[in-house]
Amino acid sequence: MLHAIRQYSLERGSLEIEYLEQYFDEFQEKKTAREILQRLSARQHLILIALAPALDEPEHMVPVAFKVGHELRALEDEPQLMDLAQRLEGCVQLAGRRVFYSWIGGTRQEWRGRGHYRALTEQQEEWAHRNGFEEIVVKTKNKFHAMRATLDHLQFNVLKFERHPYDNAESKLYLHKLLSPELLREHRTARHVQIAA
Ligand SMILES: CC(C)(COP(=O)(O)OP(=O)(O)OC[C@H]1O[C@@H](n2cnc3c(N)ncnc32)[C@H](O)[C@@H]1OP(=O)(O)O)[C@@H](O)C(=O)NCCC(=O)NCCS
Repeated sequence: MLHAIRQYSLERGSLEIEYLEQYFDEFQEKKTAREILQRLSARQHLILIALAPALDEPEHMVPVAFKVGHELRALEDEPQLMDLAQRLEGCVQLAGRRVFYSWIGGTRQEWRGRGHYRALTEQQEEWAHRNGFEEIVVKTKNKFHAMRATLDHLQFNVLKFERHPYDNAESKLYLHKLLSPELLREHRTARHVQIAA
């Protein structure tokens, strides 16, 4: 299967992600385009969306999965990212290195299990490596079992477990992967990437 992927510019991509997030029951607090713009505008980022035939009209391609990430620096000024950088202290070396944070992503329910997330992940890895990043970091929660299983299949390693004081389902996991030419050679998906304005 050839995966159709679009790489979006910041303005249009933020709107597309806001729209796509509406399809996810798992996301309690859905990201707004404004929030996405604010996070991504000051740092190098990548907005990817996978397209697939609509279920009722297969001649129409619709957005079915997404993945958004950005660089993570040692000296961040946004409070959430300052907090993240602090939590990663001792696990990830940010100073003097290019580290990419895989921020948000998912596949719409009806299109799950068809390799869309693997394709987006491999594309993100390829892009990040090409752009000089050495490591990808991702965060999830204990309660996101499908995401945990997927990250396991995608060979992310656990960096840190942060126990929630009273609800273990809310405990956080930080995972990572080192980028290398060998890793890219292990990629399994065929992808066609279109740059969208
Ligand atoms: C997790 C999620 C992104 C997977 O998307 P997907 O497009 O179905 O994933 P893929 O089909 O690309 O699968 C990638 C790999 O993960 C595995 N996988 C996917 N879902 C799985 C599940 N529920 N249980 C076990 N393995 C799973 C696949 O078998 C595949 O492995 P393989 O390539 O080695 O065969 C999707 O289920 C989702 O969006 N869930 C909600 C998002 C979410 O929980 N977000 C939490 C915030 S972090």
